[in-house]
Amino acid sequence: MPEEKQVSMSKILVTGGCGYIGSHTIVDLVQNGFEVVSVDNNSRSHASVMQGIEKITGQKVKNYKVDLCNFDDTFAIFQENEDITGIIHFAAYKAVGESVEQPLMYFENNLNSLINLLKCVQEFETPHFVFSSSCTVYGNPDSIPVTEASPIKPAESPYGLTKQMGEQIITEFSKVNEMHAILLRYFNPVGAHPSSLIGELPVGKPSNLVPAITQTAIGKLPQLKVYGDDYPTRDGSCIRDYIHICDISHAHTLALQYLIDKKYSEKCEVFNLGTGNGVTVLEVIKAFEKVSGVKLNYSIGPRRPGDVVAIYANNDHARTSLNWNIEYNLDDMMSSAWNWELHLKQDEALFNKQNTGLN
Ligand code: WQD
Repeated sequence: MPEEKQVSMSKILVTGGCGYIGSHTIVDLVQNGFEVVSVDNNSRSHASVMQGIEKITGQKVKNYKVDLCNFDDTFAIFQENEDITGIIHFAAYKAVGESVEQPLMYFENNLNSLINLLKCVQEFETPHFVFSSSCTVYGNPDSIPVTEASPIKPAESPYGLTKQMGEQIITEFSKVNEMHAILLRYFNPVGAHPSSLIGELPVGKPSNLVPAITQTAIGKLPQLKVYGDDYPTRDGSCIRDYIHICDISHAHTLALQYLIDKKYSEKCEVFNLGTGNGVTVLEVIKAFEKVSGVKLNYSIGPRRPGDVVAIYANNDHARTSLNWNIEYNLDDMMSSAWNWELHLKQDEALFNKQNTGLN
């Protein structure tokens, strides 16, 4: 009698597993008992991230270096892992400015990869799907905090449009397939794992605020530019809902468990992932200076086109239905981001030393 194939009831495919949110989510999944495989073509990420994951969890997670826009290669992953019971889909281009300059590249990459994945879901009858969406789907909200029922406004960029279209594609697909889905709308994920072994690795000059702050503080960038202090807010700078990457990653584990436990009431459910607190750019800078002890070199510049004045989440749905609790505050976000930047500098020094023969 051939040995019964061991089918893990919880093998999860994480796409974009070498990325910022993907890597932190793999750590949380593994630490909560899930078996994980990753797919990431490393076009916008580093394969070495998997070593950081192994150091934290003690587990080696396999990454398939595959472009999800290649259907045959994607299909082969499912053939090799027929016991995949859930997918968390992060893999996508996400630079707002770049999407404005190269819209077709964004539509082709972000939508073709999703459609290929869903074709495999259909073929292999994968039951659970969690999608990485963004608060950007709300555009410039009429009222804040935004709930999941807040109106979806015209996207501010082709990147934001691919998130809106992705949500609609998944919603329509789930109506006529067994798959149940959850759409997670992130606000502003920041910070790094407390171990400083994984964190955000922006490609080129960072467009997001917190890596721009830490790279300025450590001397990689000459000065931080604050994009406008003449907005109708308490100190004139924009308001956002910054949330620790580890709170975001744990929400993915809870979302998956929610699907596995069949707690859903619809085929496709939406959850806001934000702290519910709005914080201004200048307040973020003050918090960073407080926890790092570094006086940040910044100046006020003109507004950045496409920026919304203020947005932050009503997170009641995620807190109650997913039993999700926010563990980290703004100081934790700033200190973990700074420790990660310091770790990168140490690593670079070690790398240079090793590569120049100096011991
Ligand atoms: C935050 C605030 C800037 C940089 C974007 C995407 C969103 C998600 C997160 C992917 C704004 C100000 C920034 C700087 C600054 N991306 N700022 N100087 O624009 O809220 O969200 O990134 O999922 O989808 O839209 O984040 O960090 O770029 O900006 O003053 O050098 O910081 O003007 O007010 P954003 P951000």
